[in-house]
Amino acid sequence: MRHNAIRTALFLLFIFVFAFLYLKWNQMASSNMEYASSSQCNIQPWNQIHTNAVTESWMNSFSQWLWMILDLSVENNQNYTSISILGAYVYPNHISISLTAQYLVQQKLHCRYYDCKRNEIPGSAYESVVFPESVVHCPRRIGAEFMSVSRGLNEEGPEPVRITYRAYEKPLHDLSVCVAPVYGDEPKWLQIVEFVEHMKLEGASIIYFYVGTISDYDRKILNDYVRTGDVEVIELHDKYERPYYAWHLISIQDCHLRSKYHSKWVSFLDLDERISGNVNQRLIDVIDSQAADVGEMIFPVLNIVKYGDVAEKFENVDQLKNEMMFRKWTETVVETTMNASKAIVRPEKIGVMFIHYALAKLPGVKTIEIEDTEALVRHYRSTQHRVDGANWHLEPQIDGLPLQLTQTPLEPEFARNLTDAIMKRVLNVYDTVPVKCTAIARYLWESRKFPDPCESMSPVF
Ligand SMILES: *[C@@H]1O[C@H](CO)[C@@H](O)[C@H](O)[C@H]1NC(C)=O
Ligand SMILES: *[C@@H]1O[C@H](CO)[C@@H](O)[C@H](O)[C@H]1NC(C)=O
Ligand SMILES: *[C@@H]1O[C@H](CO)[C@@H](O)[C@H](O)[C@H]1NC(C)=O
Repeated sequence: MRHNAIRTALFLLFIFVFAFLYLKWNQMASSNMEYASSSQCNIQPWNQIHTNAVTESWMNSFSQWLWMILDLSVENNQNYTSISILGAYVYPNHISISLTAQYLVQQKLHCRYYDCKRNEIPGSAYESVVFPESVVHCPRRIGAEFMSVSRGLNEEGPEPVRITYRAYEKPLHDLSVCVAPVYGDEPKWLQIVEFVEHMKLEGASIIYFYVGTISDYDRKILNDYVRTGDVEVIELHDKYERPYYAWHLISIQDCHLRSKYHSKWVSFLDLDERISGNVNQRLIDVIDSQAADVGEMIFPVLNIVKYGDVAEKFENVDQLKNEMMFRKWTETVVETTMNASKAIVRPEKIGVMFIHYALAKLPGVKTIEIEDTEALVRHYRSTQHRVDGANWHLEPQIDGLPLQLTQTPLEPEFARNLTDAIMKRVLNVYDTVPVKCTAIARYLWESRKFPDPCESMSPVF
């Protein structure tokens, strides 16, 4: 009896909340005030859009409200920092901003809009709320080209940042990859080229690369991928320094926003991981064969024993061939694991993303686990640089027996293609040809009184 009464009360409360949210959303959507930039801006057709709300349906508003009630995103790190902006992205119906702060979840912030001349668009500010942590969603304003945020309406926010265009009707890419911030002393150049070429062969066409620290030598290969349009590099910097690993969740939030409407699917990987399909299908084929209601795929992990560091620098073709990680390290664990599994998601269907899976999805969006016979994460697990202990491959298992190892190289044809792609890229970037000083036209240096190039490559200053 009492049970029934409670159930009825809960049900009524539920209906009430639903009705309230629906009305509120409806009211917001129908208020028809439009503010426009008054200055001399040349407003492009894509930027002639004004919206009143940050979600497209009341169902989505309700989901967002529920995720907040359930406290699905709490970090509370570095609470001594001030608010600064990492990125701002414009979508067909809203704008989202990523912050470098991690202690503001569910706090109110105002979205602030600026036109092409960086003048604030009069009356455009909108009161929003930080959710998930480090993210603010804002409605669209006609002519807005820069965004900032502030607590109060009269407070000044951080320097506005230019919005990144993501208002695509259809995504440009089928599959993209977010690479967790790189830092540390181990050379990265070969890891980067292997990672990018591997994921390209599996069907990825854009890689969002987050950088904590990197050497000048390793940066050359990243720059070359930016040049050819394979990679976007996001430099992580804030006046408030922090441990590099503290950037990881911020980069996940930013990359979720960065990939939305840009790529149909996005994966979140570390530089020592890559995903492989099997001999019959590439990763992109596995993805394309999923039902339309699937919004998240979880991939098992194959741990590969990585016995040392990768080579410091490129020396020659033979050295490169021998040093390629996938040729050098092929010893793996026998069984794959769902421990530290990685996800590939439809970014616009995910509410809150985490490192290994989505914490919140829109209603009706399905998650599936991929069989290791279909596709898996190949994880080069170092036996030296593990914060949780070296020589993991020698640790006895729960049953006391040693870990069983086997050989699992890449498929021969894939390996051949990967070798060729790596070779081509590395030779183009690192196999530099010294200047032929005698072949430089005399007038080029003589007329400007520069030194003879056979003596010095530039004037000395
Ligand atoms: C910041 O976080 C620390 C550690 O969690 C806590 O002790 C402190 O009270 C927090 N300060 C503020 C202003 O929230
Ligand atoms: C999974 O990871 C956890 C935490 O790192 C660890 O305690 C556990 O032993 C791992 N399980 C397996 C099967 O590796
Ligand atoms: C290897 O490259 C060839 C030529 O581009 C292509 O036809 C083939 O599908 C590739 N195979 C794999 C497994 O990537």
